[in-house]
Amino acid sequence: MTLALTTIAPKSQGARDFLAKRRKQILIGGAWRNGASASWFETADPATGEILAELCEGTVADVDEAVASARTALSSTAWKGLTPSQRGKLLWKIAELIDTHADELAELETLDQGKSFRTSRFAEIPASAEQFRYFGGFCTKILGTTIPTSISYQPAGKQIFAYTTREPVGVVAAITPWNSPLLMAAMKLAPALAAGCTVVLKPAEETSLTALRLGELMLEAGLPDGVVNIVTGFGEVVGAALTAHPDVDKVAFTGSTEVGKMIVAAAAGNLKKLTLELGGKSPAIILPDADMTLAIDGVARGIFSNSGQVCVAASRVYAHRSVCDAVVDRLSKAASALRLGHGLDPATDLGPLVNRRQADRVAAYVAEGQAEGANIASGGTQSGECGTFYAPTVVTAVRSEMRLMREEIFGPVVAVTPFDDVEEALTYANDSPYGLAGSIWTKDLSCAHRLAAQVKAGTIWINCHSYFSPELPKGGHRQSGWGYENGALGLENYLETKTVCALI
Ligand code: NAI
Ligand code: MG
Repeated sequence: MTLALTTIAPKSQGARDFLAKRRKQILIGGAWRNGASASWFETADPATGEILAELCEGTVADVDEAVASARTALSSTAWKGLTPSQRGKLLWKIAELIDTHADELAELETLDQGKSFRTSRFAEIPASAEQFRYFGGFCTKILGTTIPTSISYQPAGKQIFAYTTREPVGVVAAITPWNSPLLMAAMKLAPALAAGCTVVLKPAEETSLTALRLGELMLEAGLPDGVVNIVTGFGEVVGAALTAHPDVDKVAFTGSTEVGKMIVAAAAGNLKKLTLELGGKSPAIILPDADMTLAIDGVARGIFSNSGQVCVAASRVYAHRSVCDAVVDRLSKAASALRLGHGLDPATDLGPLVNRRQADRVAAYVAEGQAEGANIASGGTQSGECGTFYAPTVVTAVRSEMRLMREEIFGPVVAVTPFDDVEEALTYANDSPYGLAGSIWTKDLSCAHRLAAQVKAGTIWINCHSYFSPELPKGGHRQSGWGYENGALGLENYLETKTVCALI
C-alpha cells in the first residue's frame, strides 16, 4: 500500500506560534533556558518525517539544577504558603487553560505523536484537563484523623492524644512515555500538585512538545517558580539521573517493564517511593452469548486506537469456539475499514506509529510469529514514506509460547484464539507475566462478575474496553506495575502520613 502523505500545517494560531520558535528550551525555576550542554535534538512528525522542533538535550547538570529548584520550591512561601483552596483553584485554572487551548494542544500532539486529531482533540486533551479538575477537588479534602489509643502505661492522671497529618512526599520525578504524552504528564502532575509536591518532569524524547506547551500554560496559570520543572532529553541520561538522584523523593513512571525494573534498581540508593505503570498484554474474553456487534466494535477500538500504542490494548482475544471464526472475520473487516493517514487529515482513523523504530519492532514481531506458524487474517503490512505506518492486523494460530503472544507489541496487532469452556479461557487469560487489564464480553452478568474476580489484572471491563476516568484507580498487578494512578488511591502515592502521639 502506498500512502500519499503531505505535510499538513496546523490550523490554530497557537500551534503555529509555538512551532515558529524552533528551539525549545527547558524549564527550571520558572524560567525557560538552554541546557548546560547546548546540544539539541530533533522531534519529527512521524507521518512525514518533517522536523517540527529542536529539543534541548538535557544533562546531569540540568537535572541537578531542576531538582534543586524543585527542592527550594517545596518549602517556599509561594507554594507551601498557599491555602488548600488556593492550590485547588490553581489546578482548576490549569484545567481551564488546557480546555481553552485544546485545539492547539491537540494539533501539537497529533503532529508530534501521529495519532488522529479526533483522538487528541476529543479524548486525550479534554481528559488531561479533567485530571487537574479532579485532583484540584482533593486539595481541600486531604485530611488526617484523630485516633483513640489503647496505650495503658501512661502516668496516672495523664492521657494520650494521637492524630495523623498528611504531608507531600516531596520532590517527584515524573517520567512519561510517548503514547499519550499530555495525558500521561497530567496523570502525574495533577495528583503531585494536589498533594503539595514539586515536580521535575521528563517527557519522552519522541514526544515532548505538549508537555513543554503545558509548562507555559502552568506558568500562565500562576504556578509558582520551581514547582514544575521540565527537562527534555534521553532516558539513559535525564531519566537515569533523576531516578538515581539522592534528592528526589519519589518517581512516578509510565513506560516499559524493562525500564521499570531499571528504575527499581536506580531508586534503591535513597529508597525512593515508586509508582510504576508498566506494560500489558490484556486479554478480551468473548463468550458465546456476547452481543457480537458491541464486542467487535469494543475490541477493535481496544486494540487499534492510537495504532495499538496503548498500555491496556486488547492484544489477546479469546473467543468461544462457536463464535471464533465470526470474530476473526468481523474483526478483520473492522480492521480493513480503518483509514490510515496523516493524523491531521479529518478522514484519518489511524495515524502512524510514533517512529520507524517502533513500526519495525511491530513488523518484526509479526514476521517472527508467521515464521513460527501464525496466520495473518488481515493487515500485516508496513507502509508510508517513512515506513511508520502499520496496518491494523488480526492474527490467528498464535501459540501461547510465541513472543507474539507473550510480549507487549505496542502496535495494532491482535491475536485471536478459540477456547472451549470458561476455565480454559481463564487459563489462557492468566497465562502472562503481565496483569494490567482485561475485558469480558457476555450478556450473562453473573458469569462476567465471577470471571472478573478471577482474571489477574488491575482493571477489568465488562462489555467495554479502555474506559478511563480520573475517578477510577488504574494500576498493574504482576509485572504491570506498582501502585495506582487516578482515584483517591492515586493521590495517596504522593502523600506521607505523620503520626503525632502526645502525652497530655
Ligand atoms: P521506555 O520505557 O524506554 O520509555 C519510557 C520513558 O522512560 C521515556 O521518557 C524514556 O526516556 C524513559 N527512560 C528510558 N530509559 C530510562 C532509564 N534508564 N531511566 C529512566 N528513564 C528512562 O519505552 P520505549 O523504549 O520508548 O518503548 C519501548 C516499548 O516499551 C514499547 O514498544 C512498549 O512495548 C513499551 N512501552 C509501554 C508503555 C506503556 O504505557 N505501557 C509506554 C511506553 C513504552
Ligand atoms: Mg516526535
